[in-house]
Amino acid sequence: MHRYASMAVVLLAAAGILFPAFPVATAADILAAPSGVTIPKGYRDWQVVAPSQRDDTDEIRVILGNGIAMKAFRANTLPFPDGAILAKLAWKRVASPEFPKTFIPGVAPRIEFMVKNSKKYAATGGWGFGRFIDGKPADEKVHATCFPCHQANVKDHDIVYTRYAP
Ligand code: HEC
Repeated sequence: MHRYASMAVVLLAAAGILFPAFPVATAADILAAPSGVTIPKGYRDWQVVAPSQRDDTDEIRVILGNGIAMKAFRANTLPFPDGAILAKLAWKRVASPEFPKTFIPGVAPRIEFMVKNSKKYAATGGWGFGRFIDGKPADEKVHATCFPCHQANVKDHDIVYTRYAP
């Protein structure tokens, strides 16, 4: 019994050493959008650029920016510098049970990010797009829609829709 136990320890240790030799997908690969964009650490602590809402889908949105993005918004810097990241959080709009004339956030169907890297993402206006549902990236087909819609309507604003709400 004792011998088996120590053999198991040896095997586990060997597996620990050998495992990295196999070309396994890391957690970061699995959670990356096709563009390579992943959910940025700490995004929930970023500052608010502006809220928005959409009637046909009954959604409340809040657009956030990291430090580089906020500085550019406030100084009206266009194009946004490399390193700027924008987040779009969305929630279904539900009437508050405590005060039904007020709408509050319900379930969150998705979160989205745009990461500025003018070299890496030159083909999509310098921005890498990522949509995540329950923490997992949407597929390639969904991601193919991002750039065309942003490019079609706001190409004079570095393909960013949101304007800073003072
Ligand atoms: C059919 C048009 C359309 C498509 C497709 C689209 N967006 Fe947007 N996006 C918008 C609009 C309009 C806004 C402005 C904010 C809002 O709608 O609440 C926006 C805002 C954003 C923002 C905040 C920065 C900004 O531009 O205002 C991010 C981040 C974003 N979208 C990411 C994505 C990602 C990722 C995809 C693809 C999975 C995507 N978008 C696809 C229309 C679109």
